[in-house]
Amino acid sequence: MSAQLQPQASYRPMHPGDLAAVADLEKSLYPFPWSLGNFRDSLDAGYDCWVACDGERVIGYAILMVALDEAHLLNFAVASGWQNRGIGRDFLAFILGVARGAKVEMVYLEVRPSNLAARHLYRKAGFQQIAIRPSYYPAQGGREDALFLGITL
Ligand SMILES: CC(C)(COP(=O)(O)OP(=O)(O)OC[C@H]1O[C@@H](n2cnc3c(N)ncnc32)[C@H](O)[C@@H]1OP(=O)(O)O)[C@@H](O)C(=O)NCCC(=O)NCCS
Repeated sequence: MSAQLQPQASYRPMHPGDLAAVADLEKSLYPFPWSLGNFRDSLDAGYDCWVACDGERVIGYAILMVALDEAHLLNFAVASGWQNRGIGRDFLAFILGVARGAKVEMVYLEVRPSNLAARHLYRKAGFQQIAIRPSYYPAQGGREDALFLGITL
């Protein structure tokens, strides 16, 4: 019998002091990253911005924009050195719990068709494909479609 790896992260609201660490992580994870200013704007706008931490160290983040009974998961990531340990699954469940607590009934997000890890994670969490947004993302040498997913809470 193999031992199950348990998620090791704790979660807390993102603070302005986290912005540099979050933007650094973002740069390390995406070829077309959000800027530090994009994260600051999200904080300033009052979006639900959360970090996953190992002790003091930020190892993941999530940006959830809530509008009445709907929410949009604008960004969600786990540091590459911490991936494949169940943290993404646990963090996503936590974020969906935050949404439920805010009386959200539907959560939406976009994901690249090429992002197999994220697609797997979202499908297992119960997200379903609603539509395809053509040429939504910047990509090397052109644009990439987005899969538009949603989950009813
Ligand atoms: C997507 C992401 C958040 C997943 O985080 P994670 O901590 O590695 O996720 P978990 O360890 O909880 O794994 C979740 C599931 O995905 C699976 N998975 C991981 N990498 C995979 C891959 N390359 N292809 C297919 N499945 C994969 C895991 O096996 C696990 O499946 P299981 O529940 O059936 O065992 C992480 O890969 C990431 O931050 N990627 C870069 C940023 C990003 O793309 N964010 C999403 C934008 S929409």
